[in-house]
Amino acid sequence: KKTQGTGKAPVNIALSKYWGKRDIELNLPLNGSVSISLPGLGTETEISLIEAAEDKVLLNNEPLPAEHAFAKRVSKFLDLFRGGDNQHFAINTYNSVPTAAGLASSASGYAALVLALNDLFDWQLNGQQLSLLARLGSGSASRSLFNGFALWHKGENENGLDSFAEAIDTKWPEFCIGLVEVDIKEKPLSSTQGMQNTVNTCDLYQAWPEQANRDMQSIIEAIQTKDFAALGKTAEHNALSMHATMIATWPPIVYWQAESVTAMHKVWQLREQGIEIFFTMDAGPNLKLLFLEKQKPAIKQAFGDIRIIEPFKD
Ligand code: DP6
Repeated sequence: KKTQGTGKAPVNIALSKYWGKRDIELNLPLNGSVSISLPGLGTETEISLIEAAEDKVLLNNEPLPAEHAFAKRVSKFLDLFRGGDNQHFAINTYNSVPTAAGLASSASGYAALVLALNDLFDWQLNGQQLSLLARLGSGSASRSLFNGFALWHKGENENGLDSFAEAIDTKWPEFCIGLVEVDIKEKPLSSTQGMQNTVNTCDLYQAWPEQANRDMQSIIEAIQTKDFAALGKTAEHNALSMHATMIATWPPIVYWQAESVTAMHKVWQLREQGIEIFFTMDAGPNLKLLFLEKQKPAIKQAFGDIRIIEPFKD
């Protein structure tokens, strides 16, 4: 019997976003979402069974105190998988992205952890099943089991068994993502708390699930027909609409910083010059630029030495 398991998963960027839950315990979303995974950026996790009174959680080789928020959340997730109350795990998580900087490291984190458990216990689960389990750790983790584009079905069932992600099998080699790092410090408010506040206090939110589901359909179609202009436009509009619901939450959730807005204006200026570039943003101040390979020189000229990811080539 195995005593150690490992797993590795990429971060993903939603092109149409998940914001709001219909079930908080099970991380069931009020709308579906579509993402693109960033190979090379992500999480690697080792897990083993240990003889100890509690779990041992390490982040980038640093042991975390048991009362640390991340350690607590991981231990609560692992409660789902213990063979008895006194079975404990040692988990070592290596992130190649800063934790909680709006680069969705919880997504790659729970996906990698589920893969490590699958390895440790030799479950031999398929992508859908792994996605369901990862979703229980963090909603967006359901999409991090796959490379390329992924689609997370909202699902209808109360038990959540139909709420999982799957790969969209279109390859788009020219597709590029640029990371504009405005600030990589820990975000002031978690997505979990933020989306709950939005659902509870934002009147604009009513309009969100329907728009988000429509945007998701448009983006899937744009991926399948490789219509970059339609994809970019829908993704940017979707992100800004999500941020509009955040801003109209009480207390307000404004993840943007001044430089975020400056970068947005730069994108719009480039578009006026005929350069096809769009952006998306998550629960943080950083922009993710969306463009095709042929625009690389123009993007580099405008944004300088930013990190560019080619999801289908890297
Ligand atoms: C803005 O998946 O981090 O990045 O399910 O509570 O863990 P929990 O939330 P999380 O939320 C991600 C929100 C988002 C949009 C997205 O990735 O779709």
